[in-house]
Amino acid sequence: MQTLYQKNCLRLFNFNHKEIQYLIKLSKFFKQMKNCKSEKKYLKGKNIVLIFEKPSTRTRCSFEIAAHDQGAKTTYLGPNDTHLGYKESVHDSAAVLGKIYNGILYRGFCQKILENLQKYSNIPVWNGLTDIFHPTQILSDLFTMSEIHPNTPLNKIKCAYVGDAQNNIANSLLEAAFILNLKLNIVAPKSCWPKKNIIFTRTEKLNTKKNILYTDDIKKGIKNVDFIYTDVWISMGEKKIEWKKKIKELFPYQVNKTMLEMTNNPNVKVLHCLPALHDKKSTIGLKIHNQFNLKNGLEITDDIFYSNKSIILQQSENKMHTLKALLVSCLSKKKFF
Ligand code: CP
Ligand code: NVA
Repeated sequence: MQTLYQKNCLRLFNFNHKEIQYLIKLSKFFKQMKNCKSEKKYLKGKNIVLIFEKPSTRTRCSFEIAAHDQGAKTTYLGPNDTHLGYKESVHDSAAVLGKIYNGILYRGFCQKILENLQKYSNIPVWNGLTDIFHPTQILSDLFTMSEIHPNTPLNKIKCAYVGDAQNNIANSLLEAAFILNLKLNIVAPKSCWPKKNIIFTRTEKLNTKKNILYTDDIKKGIKNVDFIYTDVWISMGEKKIEWKKKIKELFPYQVNKTMLEMTNNPNVKVLHCLPALHDKKSTIGLKIHNQFNLKNGLEITDDIFYSNKSIILQQSENKMHTLKALLVSCLSKKKFF
């Protein structure tokens, strides 16, 4: 699609309905091509830099493999690897990177850094997660939802996001719901509702969209939904001392067997962008379970995480296909459909 060439993805609002539908279709195409080993390379000679100021497993791996599959070269700059913002202004670093590379993937704290990278590099910049948005994750999740319901248009799909709704995942899901008319219920205690007036400008009028519901009533929020989406209760960069408060507020919103039964939909599926605190097998998981005397997960229980209701691993794999669709659309002029 011509309009995606040289495009940035700082947030989902950078795309319109048609562009998102195109990216979903192209993700499906690349997934099929990879699975039948007949993928062609459209990014030979392209160079991409990945700047990560926060840790990552999925986004980094998916992006690197997507780029390599397509013939592009990548440079990974982890936390402490660059002068960016410390010894050198974002302006200067961006101007230099813009002379060497064809695109920048950035994961970090501040949306403003991302905007400045774009402003001064003059090459496409993609958001691999900031404190307030995670658009590449949600693009991939929309693809996963459409795989589960291939014959249902996205504006007929009902999704409940439960848990901490003040984070990057909730904000990007809200943008997706706004653009695509996806039916989205934000199900959380009022204290954890999105900070709409801070994140979204008045013109975006998220309050006026009839397809978006904000509720603290779990029963009402999850009734008859096709998907329940949850995420960690404390995101990267948030203060760890919040755990006690967050657990108290959010424990009733844990995704568990009872919640799934309450949807009244035997086919309901569960999404989680990962990483998840569903067991004691990670250092933080063990620490929080022991500290708060928990038995079976935080935002999601271990049994549901590994049940046939969970499409979390499919969701995770799909990031690679969607990031590939995004990269190829933004860096090559090839029209696929
Ligand atoms: N979902 C996601 O972005 O995972 P990583 O933090 O591992 O990249
Ligand atoms: N909200 C989470 C998402 C991780 C992919 C975080 O920012 O840590």
